[in-house]
Amino acid sequence: MTPSTRATTSRPANCSAVVGLQWGDEGKGKAVDLLAARHDAVVRYNGGANAGHSVVVGGTRYALHLIPSGILYPGKRAIIGNGVVVDPWKLIEELDGLASRGVDTRGLMISDRAHVVLPYHKLEDGLREDLLKGGAAKAHAEGVAGISEIGTTRRGIGPAYADKVQRASGVRMGDLLRPGVLAEKLELAMAIKRPLLRELAGKQPDIDLPRLREACAQVGTRLGPMITDTTYLLHDMLGEGRPILFEGANGTLLDVDHGTYPYVTASNCGSAGIPSGTGVPMANVLRILGVMKAYSTRVGTGPLPTELKDATGDRIRERGREFGTTTGRPRRVGWLDLVAVRYSSMINGVTGLAITLLDVLAGFDELRICTAYKVNGSVTDRFPPDAIDLAAVEPVWTTLPGFGEEIGRCRRRQDLPDGARRYVEFVEERVGVPADIISVGPDREQTMVRGESE
Ligand code: GDP
Ligand code: IMO
Ligand code: MG
Repeated sequence: MTPSTRATTSRPANCSAVVGLQWGDEGKGKAVDLLAARHDAVVRYNGGANAGHSVVVGGTRYALHLIPSGILYPGKRAIIGNGVVVDPWKLIEELDGLASRGVDTRGLMISDRAHVVLPYHKLEDGLREDLLKGGAAKAHAEGVAGISEIGTTRRGIGPAYADKVQRASGVRMGDLLRPGVLAEKLELAMAIKRPLLRELAGKQPDIDLPRLREACAQVGTRLGPMITDTTYLLHDMLGEGRPILFEGANGTLLDVDHGTYPYVTASNCGSAGIPSGTGVPMANVLRILGVMKAYSTRVGTGPLPTELKDATGDRIRERGREFGTTTGRPRRVGWLDLVAVRYSSMINGVTGLAITLLDVLAGFDELRICTAYKVNGSVTDRFPPDAIDLAAVEPVWTTLPGFGEEIGRCRRRQDLPDGARRYVEFVEERVGVPADIISVGPDREQTMVRGESE
């Protein structure tokens, strides 16, 4: 029997996953970094360079976009699964950036089936956004509800996933190593994209096919040694009983199926993305850590029921340094929405919570938490993921006492001031899941782990 056939049947499940329970930027990078020590590989299964995962080690900050956060641990495998869309130029930039800071990137492997984000995807992403922007302004002027721009990262994510689903012209990482196939696919893609881009841009798109072919061949040569069948690689590891950590990108409320559609990204960001994005069955994943901020943030457009557009929001934004890791955009900020988090926890099958950025809430007299929604005069604890429905809800608040003291130096749960401890307990009770991790600062050290610190 080969290891790969033994993998999912006779070995105990010993894998873990880290998923975001809100609209992204929950602190997944830090959570992955904490858990990576106990795993042999860290695997990205969704999204692309729209993600920005920060890890702070001993005061040094790393921002990872495509490379799994586990790369910072020497000797670990870092795997980009088939469900990711890879911008090879961005990936090389990231590899070089890490190498220049002394990080050993030899553990990186990339699925030959991951799709490639090409320059025309980024162009299309931007042009579609511009079109929506114009359309929304017109609709607004005419007094009708328009669909506004999504506020994408303009990294070509949506168009690349769309081409994957359209099939024939979708370029996969493995195709970068097959010049004949690559040329044929690019030719086909151009036949479809050129008229579309010309129409959207109102001018001839600036795409030189021979130059693009050459550029693809160059990145193929550079990345070639890392491109492989990662599904068998993972199953071989499972067969050897080696624990694997799955690193979710974006957040459950940005999930294309379960998020606040259409203001979402283009992939399954939650745990459901793991089997399709890696080829590893869910039965292997024993622990699912749901990462949630102690409040809410959102980048881009779409409803945020607890949004604070006042001085309180500004204060949280400043204290939490809520500016995007990928685009630098200021994040929209709101009080914690437990209707949303309970929903995400349910969708993901979360077994433990990581409550992050709790330190940001120090200094408020009272803390508000949304525990239900009022819709058309009645109260519900159910989350309506459709954006139009969600925009119509009104939060029902529970007010908890605040805590005055800074908590960045607390290392045990019992050291937290009463208000902070009560806040965490309230979240645990309402979500029905224990807080495995409480994070009180960006650094690895600023963490309380259940069972370790008390
Ligand atoms: P991700 O996309 O989920 O990995 O999150 P990001 O890295 O985009 O954003 C989270 C930000 O919060 C980063 O700047 C982290 O360094 C920072 N961070 C993480 N945990 C904490 C925490 O407990 N307290 C504070 N103050 N910052 C944190
Ligand atoms: P991490 O992994 C926050 C948001 C964008 C936009 C929408 C669609 O760092 O948590 P896209 O470029 O994916 O088509 O944009 O999704 N978005 C994120 N917001 N964190 C992320 O990733 C995000 N990835 C996408 O702002 O609203
Ligand atoms: Mg981020």
